[in-house]
Amino acid sequence: MVSTSGSTLFPLPLSRGYSRSGLFSSVIASNLSNSWISSQKKIVCACMTPSRNVSDGLSSYKLTDSPYTRILNSVEEPESDSDVLIECKNVYKSFGEKHILRGVSFKIRHGEAVGIIGPSGTGKSTILKIIAGLLAPDKGEVYVQGKKREGLISDEEISISGLRIGLVFQSAALFDSLTVRENVGFLLYENSKMSDEQISELVTETLAAVGLKGVEDRLPSELSGGMKKRVALARSIIFDTTKDTVEPEVLLYDEPTAGLDPIASTVVEDLIRSVHIKGEDALGKSGKVASYVVVTHQHSTIRRAVDRLIFLYEGKIVWEGLTDEFTTSTNPIVQQFASGSLDGPIKY
Ligand SMILES: Nc1ncnc2c1ncn2[C@@H]1O[C@H](COP(=O)(O)OP(=O)(O)O)[C@@H](O)[C@H]1O
Ligand SMILES: [Mg+2]
Repeated sequence: MVSTSGSTLFPLPLSRGYSRSGLFSSVIASNLSNSWISSQKKIVCACMTPSRNVSDGLSSYKLTDSPYTRILNSVEEPESDSDVLIECKNVYKSFGEKHILRGVSFKIRHGEAVGIIGPSGTGKSTILKIIAGLLAPDKGEVYVQGKKREGLISDEEISISGLRIGLVFQSAALFDSLTVRENVGFLLYENSKMSDEQISELVTETLAAVGLKGVEDRLPSELSGGMKKRVALARSIIFDTTKDTVEPEVLLYDEPTAGLDPIASTVVEDLIRSVHIKGEDALGKSGKVASYVVVTHQHSTIRRAVDRLIFLYEGKIVWEGLTDEFTTSTNPIVQQFASGSLDGPIKY
């Protein structure tokens, strides 16, 4: 099973299958036995055009409220697609008889901070996994920087797509038996041609960017919960600085604040903002993450960490709007979700 050290952030690896030493391969073998291993060599992304219709009995709930949703109701696209990094178009996914995603379409543009919300079991993690390439859609299309992808893609295709995609797991993913330095530098040790000294320097710099100093030699068990989150975030944003071109990065966070107290949640929400290109990291430098998607239930995270929301219910997008409008929306589904009421269209 994946190690459960308390951290959630992990970039999807682009392993070329070579290991600098026996150290990491044995750690992988002992720590990872699930889909993460298969993701070592295969990564995919997906996104979708904004939904314009709400169907299947939900058609009375109009996409209203915001300038953004007004745009959705118009015939024209809001803007050109030149800045679209990921697009999912009419994506379907079933598990056996359970039809989880039933025609989901949206786009993630460069610079966006998007939240995906909705009741439990509605397919939020599933869509993240499809975007990340851990799952292939049954039907529908997935585009990465305008390039259509079929099923899961290989490392080679990923590098052609020119977009790095990191998935931040809901549950922990730090390797308990590796130091902080080894955890943060993991993919560089595995995949890059950087020297150990270069990696070590970059790890220290990246840790400083998320507000951590002098923890490189510690084990995860020697860190507080909040520190583990920072280490994991550092691991998700570190990249090979010796490459000629640096691809933009999209980070996908699956319930990053689940189980945290309100103050620890605020710290994580601000960290998510800080590593975004519109934010500023702990060193006062502009963050590097081009766009991100956060799946969350938590109202504080909705308010603090994202600008635009996509509401998923029964496999479809039933509302989209700006975060500001979430609490003032007249859409009954949104109102019920925002207030936590038992009365309304969402049945438990
Ligand atoms: N690999 C899988 N095999 C079978 N069922 C799955 C699998 N992954 C998810 N599901 C089911 O799909 C539904 C949606 O799951 P998920 O995307 O995790 O929902 P959410 O993140 O919105 O709570 C759930 O009923 C879940 O049990
Ligand atoms: Mg989930």
